[in-house]
Amino acid sequence: MTTVYFNGNYLPQDEVRVSPEDRGFVFGDGVYEVIRSYQGQLFALDAHLARMRSGVCELAINGADVDALGDVSAELIKRNHLTAGDATVYLQITRGTAPRAHFFPDPPVPPTVYAQAGRFTPKGDPAKGIATITVPDIRWARCDIKTVQLLPNCLANQRARASGAQEALFVRDGVVLEGSHSSLFFVFGEEVRTAPKNNYILPSITRDIVLDLCRTAGIPAREAPVFTHELPRATESFLAGTTVEVMPIVRIDGWGLGDGKPGPVTRRLQELFRARTPKARG
Ligand SMILES: Cc1ncc(COP(=O)(O)O)c(C=O)c1O
Repeated sequence: MTTVYFNGNYLPQDEVRVSPEDRGFVFGDGVYEVIRSYQGQLFALDAHLARMRSGVCELAINGADVDALGDVSAELIKRNHLTAGDATVYLQITRGTAPRAHFFPDPPVPPTVYAQAGRFTPKGDPAKGIATITVPDIRWARCDIKTVQLLPNCLANQRARASGAQEALFVRDGVVLEGSHSSLFFVFGEEVRTAPKNNYILPSITRDIVLDLCRTAGIPAREAPVFTHELPRATESFLAGTTVEVMPIVRIDGWGLGDGKPGPVTRRLQELFRARTPKARG
C-alpha cells in the first residue's frame, strides 16, 4: 500500500480524490518536480525546491508552502520504507479546483498539492549508453518552467521508442537543445558544450552539477549552442538528469558517435557524478 501526501494529509494512494475541475486536469495548470533519493537521502533537494518555488511564482500560483515539501518528501521516503536503495519523490502543485474558465479563479482557491515516493529502477545501461533521435521542438516558449504540460515531450519520447531509441533530442532553429526529460551535453575533442540557459530549456539541476564537476575537475566546458551541422564533429555526447544521471549517447539518428562506445570524458564525468551522490547503493 503506497502512502502519499495530498493537501496536507498522508493517506493511501487509492483514497486520493482529485476533482475533474482541478486546473491541473483541465489545463495542465501546474508544476512538478522529480527528486532522487539514494539510500534515503534526498539528492539536491534545495535546488529542486528552489526551482519549484520559482515555477509557482512564474505561474502566479499562490498559497502553496513549497518549503514544507522537503519534510513531506523525507516523510514519504520513511513511510514507504524507501530508506535503502534508489527511490524518487514526485511533487506536483496545481492552481486548484474551480469551474472551468481561462482566467485564474476569482476569488482565488487553494492550490492542489500532491506528493508520492516510489522505488526507482534506472533505465538504460550507463556502461553501454543509449541511442537517440532528433525531433523538431514543438514545445511552447517557456520550457524553463517545469509545468505538467508534457504532451510534446511524451510525443517526442514515444517517437524515439517507436524507432528503437531511448530518448528524443529537441531541435529548434538548428540548435540541439535538450532531451524530452533530460539535459544534453556534447564533447568536441577536449571541450564539453551544452546549450545556454534560456526560455527554451529547463534549468536542469543535473546540468548545473555536471558543469560544476567540469569546473572543479578542470575539464573545459562552455554554455553555447550546439548546431545540428556540428554533430558530425562531436566526439561524445551524454544526457544529464535526475533519473538518467550521466548517460552516454552512442547513436543519434542511427549515426554512431566516436567509436560507438561511451567516450573518456563522459566516463570521467560519470565517475565524478557518482562520487557526488551517496555511494552505497542498495
Ligand atoms: C525537459 C527536461 N530537461 C531536462 C531535465 C533534467 O532536469 P534535472 O536535471 O533537474 O532532472 C528534465 C527532467 O525532467 C526535463 O524534463
